[in-house]
Amino acid sequence: MKPGPHGTHGMIRFDFARAFCVAATLGLAAVAAAHADGASLRPLDTPPAYAQECASCHVALPPAMLPARSWQRVMARLDRHYGVDASLDPATVRLLGDWLQANAGAGKRVREEPPQDRITRSAWFERKHRKIDPAVWQLGSVKTAANCAACHAGAEQGRFDDDELRYPAGLDARSRRAWND
Ligand code: HEC
Ligand code: HEC
Repeated sequence: MKPGPHGTHGMIRFDFARAFCVAATLGLAAVAAAHADGASLRPLDTPPAYAQECASCHVALPPAMLPARSWQRVMARLDRHYGVDASLDPATVRLLGDWLQANAGAGKRVREEPPQDRITRSAWFERKHRKIDPAVWQLGSVKTAANCAACHAGAEQGRFDDDELRYPAGLDARSRRAWND
């Protein structure tokens, strides 16, 4: 994290500005600004089951990054989850499903249901990552665009600001441009 310009006070304001950046991408200003730490897209009422059941194969994806209808379909077919079986007991499906519905993305950029209900196929996602060389997604340290944590150091905490990026292993110097502008 870059230090604020004037000590602690500057830092608080700086965090707020960062929160506003990703939030604006998603059309989410009001939601993200309500968070205690400013820049996190992880809702304060995240059920422990979300971390336990939905963050073992990939990071806990922010509910605000998909519209309600997409989450509904994801939760309705966990037995056929992008090529794996991610089934859960009905009570947990209901608990997480209700919470995802309540926290789904509603901003105008997120409202559109992306192909395959993938965050990584959303127009806003593709636009934000357009400078990344296609070969980068194939690196052994990345494997798939859904592996947010390969490049976003704060992904586990729901933080995706472009000043918290890291280079995935094997990234060549030329490809680093997308990280540095
Ligand atoms: C057993 C492993 C596993 C578990 C558990 C799991 N997932 Fe996934 N998930 C995957 C895989 C594999 C993919 C596809 C990754 C890819 O193709 O790049 C995926 C993809 C996704 C995507 C689409 C990501 C994209 O491309 O934008 C969403 C949304 C998602 N999972 C949500 C959830 C939720 C919600 C839960 C908990 C109910 C969950 N996952 C639990 C393995 C899992
Ligand atoms: C291969 C590395 C990589 C992966 C994997 C990746 N990102 Fe990114 N992401 C980047 C880079 C680099 C940028 C900055 C691009 C730029 O500024 O041109 C970025 C930018 C973003 C931004 C905009 C940040 C801002 O401050 O405007 C968001 C939001 C984001 N990514 C979310 C995600 C999510 C969610 C995932 C996983 C589903 C993901 N990214 C996967 C590399 C990656």
